[in-house]
Amino acid sequence: MPSFKGHIKSKLPNVGTTIFTVMSRLALEHNAINLSQGFPDFDCAKALKDLFSKAINSGLNQYPPMAGVPVLRERVAEKMERLYGATYDPEHEITVVPGATYGIFTAIATLIRPGDEVILFEPAYDCYDPAIETVGGTSVFVPLELPDYHVDWRKVQAAITPRTRMIIMNTPHNPTASVLSAEDMRMLEGILRGTDIVVVSDEVYEHIVFDGHVHQGVSRYPGLAERSFFVSSFGKTYSVTGWKMGYVCAPKELMSEFRKVHQFNAFVACSPVQYAFAEYMKDPAPYLELAAFYQRKRDLFRQALAPSRFTLMPSRGSFFQCAGYDAISDERDTDLAVRLTKENGVCSIPVSVFYKNPRYEKVLRFCFAKSDDTLKRGAEVLCRL
Ligand SMILES: Cc1ncc(COP(=O)(O)O)c(C=O)c1O
Repeated sequence: MPSFKGHIKSKLPNVGTTIFTVMSRLALEHNAINLSQGFPDFDCAKALKDLFSKAINSGLNQYPPMAGVPVLRERVAEKMERLYGATYDPEHEITVVPGATYGIFTAIATLIRPGDEVILFEPAYDCYDPAIETVGGTSVFVPLELPDYHVDWRKVQAAITPRTRMIIMNTPHNPTASVLSAEDMRMLEGILRGTDIVVVSDEVYEHIVFDGHVHQGVSRYPGLAERSFFVSSFGKTYSVTGWKMGYVCAPKELMSEFRKVHQFNAFVACSPVQYAFAEYMKDPAPYLELAAFYQRKRDLFRQALAPSRFTLMPSRGSFFQCAGYDAISDERDTDLAVRLTKENGVCSIPVSVFYKNPRYEKVLRFCFAKSDDTLKRGAEVLCRL
């Protein structure tokens, strides 16, 4: 291919290859135990795969309706009502999308204009800030507070200006595994009352909350639900991250604008898989049992790491475990993560990469959505450090 001779003014001049791609490639090169990227290393339910094949073989292979197949939207509406007591009209207030990331990007592109400010917390999942930058918005970062990455609501209040258009929430939180409490949600509700600020609530780990706690999402709080895009991911819930499917729920006024943008981008999400999810969702057990499934893995991993010199931070939700390494090394987390992969054969994610202006707090993130054997082998190596 001859090279492009024109001038390119990058919209994302500071964005390179994501750390997840870098670390996963390194893990492969060095045949390392991969506790880095956030996806299961085990297969999804056979029944779900069978339903997907059945839908394909019965010819459900053409464009579905733009907002998603009606039966799936109805299932989502029933679930939101049952779990959170929230009534979303499947006709106007629920849209099936090709992944939560796409849902988040679309919500941002729908509302944010040059000069608008969006509040987000740091460390932050990596897709928010580039999406804001792409559409000309400005990210305003509020730090989560150590030792347990909680929100200081005075700092949120102080970050609000007349230009604030949106706030991005994420609970359970990637990368820190913290969760928001009922008190947090009431604080947020109070701060936003009487403003036009819209919430984008990334709740892809909504079913992975530990120790008997109840997931506190925006849909439970009428004062938040009325101004929020709730975003979830079938990929995380059903261990099919490669299928890239999710859904967004929001009041009609917000959703009708969202659909205008979606209509001219993806337009629809994959059709047969929607029929498969609609059938599979009839049984709530798979998502209701997910927290116990991952809690067992969390406990196994933490117990296996107990003799190590890492300081284990709380893991209250999601499938991540953060660990401080003050007692082990003075290196930056980015250097240590690379060295552990190359020399010790265990791959993790350095938490500093989740900051726009990196803070080196000496914390690594491990993903425990892995087979028991992988977790034990990984922990064994980490205990030798
Ligand atoms: C917090 C968070 N939001 C969104 C996503 C992406 O979800 P999806 O694969 O459905 O786009 C991830 C995936 O790791 C995540 O951790």
